[in-house]
Amino acid sequence: MKAVVFHDIGDIRLDDVKEPKIQDSTDAVVRLTASAICGTDLHMIRGTFSGMKPGTILGHEGVGIVEEIGKGVRNINVGDRVVIPSTIACGYCSYCRASYYAQCDNANPNGKQAGTAFFGGPQMTGPFQGLQAEYARVPFANVGLVKLPREVSDDQAILLSDIFPTAYFGADIAEIEPGDTVVVFGCGPVGQFAIASALLMDAGRVFAVDHIASRLAMAREQGAEVINFEEEHPVTVIQELTGGVGADRAIDAVGVDAQRPESGPAAKEAKAKEKEYKRELSKIAPETNPKNGNWVPGNAPSQVLEWAVKSLAKAGTLSIIGVYPEAAKVFPIGMAMNRNLKINMGNCNHRKYIPRLVNMVRNRTVDPLLVLTQTEPMTDAIEAYKAFDKRQSGWIKVELKPQAAAKA
Ligand SMILES: NC(=O)c1ccc[n+]([C@@H]2O[C@H](COP(=O)([O-])OP(=O)(O)OC[C@H]3O[C@@H](n4cnc5c(N)ncnc54)[C@H](O)[C@@H]3O)[C@@H](O)[C@H]2O)c1
Ligand SMILES: [Zn+2]
Ligand SMILES: [Zn+2]
Repeated sequence: MKAVVFHDIGDIRLDDVKEPKIQDSTDAVVRLTASAICGTDLHMIRGTFSGMKPGTILGHEGVGIVEEIGKGVRNINVGDRVVIPSTIACGYCSYCRASYYAQCDNANPNGKQAGTAFFGGPQMTGPFQGLQAEYARVPFANVGLVKLPREVSDDQAILLSDIFPTAYFGADIAEIEPGDTVVVFGCGPVGQFAIASALLMDAGRVFAVDHIASRLAMAREQGAEVINFEEEHPVTVIQELTGGVGADRAIDAVGVDAQRPESGPAAKEAKAKEKEYKRELSKIAPETNPKNGNWVPGNAPSQVLEWAVKSLAKAGTLSIIGVYPEAAKVFPIGMAMNRNLKINMGNCNHRKYIPRLVNMVRNRTVDPLLVLTQTEPMTDAIEAYKAFDKRQSGWIKVELKPQAAAKA
């Protein structure tokens, strides 16, 4: 079968690989009808989330038809249409039973302390073969797989595999109360859904910060008050537009590949920190491999953390869902401490939120399609990756169609 395979930092290819088989009794094999490219994949190819094992199939977002099940899977039938949560969880450890699926004690073969297990990630996350493929093995399928009703299309469901639940989780741990002012850093797919989720939770106002016009336009369309960080200083604007109070809640939907402003009133301050940022980056990404403008790591890993802390109101809450590797060690702790901020963060407990979101899409409370801008056959996956990595205008969320590869 065809799959997108990680060979090295800056080197991914569409390869012919072996089809997966059932290994454990709670496994399922799913024939994927939709997959997608995520910002998290980009960190791995840029080298800012390191430790990928060559030969790993990329991708952790998938929708498909159950092809085969082990005898421990009793709630799903062959032929069912399902969405696959990005993180893998056993369903019976104390963490899973408290719905902390991303901290499952049993799913990660590297042990209880190894952290989140997910599809298509670095060695320390499993590694598990990913979902940018024609078929995938899903461990703990009895717990993970969520059946899809007819009313929810594949194009809608692929957004429920990772990015909408992640953003909803981000808004949840931001502790949004009705009327709150929320600032979302990053208007990529996750940021767009963070805006939508904040509004679903009755936020009074939502600010959205990025520097890409098409992404800011989408945020504005949703009703967010937009700030281009290369034209204005985001912290100053938020202070001004909140009467000097700041935002009650901030969501970091950028992560380790944050960029610093090259122009506008925030550029000078960021330029002065150039050396510090370079030092941070050399620790985070000792190896990088940019090629023709692709796979360039962000040049200011802690920029968003600093802006988020500064733009919060005293005693506000910071929610970090942008991904940082263990090697990221810079955070403005003193500033946060002295302003009594609260910080919640982590990998999404996908399985906790997906059933609720499936229902919200089914009953038309929300239509996730607003964020899907491209649907490409998997045969064009590498080109699609390059366009998404360069954040080409209009390229926000990219769905991949694995079946198109099967027919090719
Ligand atoms: N915690 C989880 O479980 C989880 C799950 C999925 C994705 N993620 C993470 O969420 C983040 C966003 O994912 P995505 O798919 O939307 O990625 P993306 O790369 O498409 O979006 C990131 C956005 O941040 C913007 N940005 C860069 N520097 C900025 C700055 N200084 N201030 C404001 N915006 C800035 C970029 O222009 C871009 O639009 C990534 O870090 C991804 O790894 C986390
Ligand atoms: Zn993702
Ligand atoms: Zn568990």
